[in-house]
Amino acid sequence: MSARFISFEGIDGAGKSTHIARLAERFSQRGATLVNTREPGGTELAEALRGLFLHSGMDGLTEALLVFAGRRDHLVRVIEPALAAGQTVICDRFTDATFAYQGFGRGMDLTVLGTLEQWVQQGRQPDLTLWFDLPAEMAASRRAAARAADRFEQQDLDFFERVRAGYAARAAAAPQRFARIDAAQSIEQVAAQIDAVMEARGW
Ligand code: TYD
Repeated sequence: MSARFISFEGIDGAGKSTHIARLAERFSQRGATLVNTREPGGTELAEALRGLFLHSGMDGLTEALLVFAGRRDHLVRVIEPALAAGQTVICDRFTDATFAYQGFGRGMDLTVLGTLEQWVQQGRQPDLTLWFDLPAEMAASRRAAARAADRFEQQDLDFFERVRAGYAARAAAAPQRFARIDAAQSIEQVAAQIDAVMEARGW
């Protein structure tokens, strides 16, 4: 039994996807049963909410309520059962993204977000959060090279610097849970940083 809950975080364009796939492969090779999931999303209901969340305009509180509704379904149906069965859960974004994007990015009241977090998660947090940190400007040029933008990715550099500051604040408040990854480095160097974090935990 080696239940582990690992989240990946960072501003859009930080380069999480490559390393999520790589870490999943590393765990599978070592015989772990893996659940690879994401937020917003991870269940049929939460994926339906994700579509609305990413593509319809709404105010900050509506965004937060939708994302936490999806998160509740995801926790109840997928994450908690997997952890109870001793599995490893890798989640592309979790609640730190809500504090960073809706809280710091959009100015949503952090106390309200904290209350929702408490109701929805009942104390559940990732065991480890890999925070991919890099300047907003570098992330923007990576995004421009990679794909068409959704409505969050269309925001300006100031927005993404606020989101980045939000992640920094969450990391400072939970230093044991967070590992900051310098995402400005090359793919190989980022992979080496992640391996070092895993080895330090005996994973
Ligand atoms: P992302 O993982 O970047 O999806 P993709 O790789 O397909 O672009 O997540 C989608 C967007 O949702 C991203 O811009 C961040 C945003 N988001 C929030 O604003 N709040 C949240 O709580 C979460 C989980 C994501």
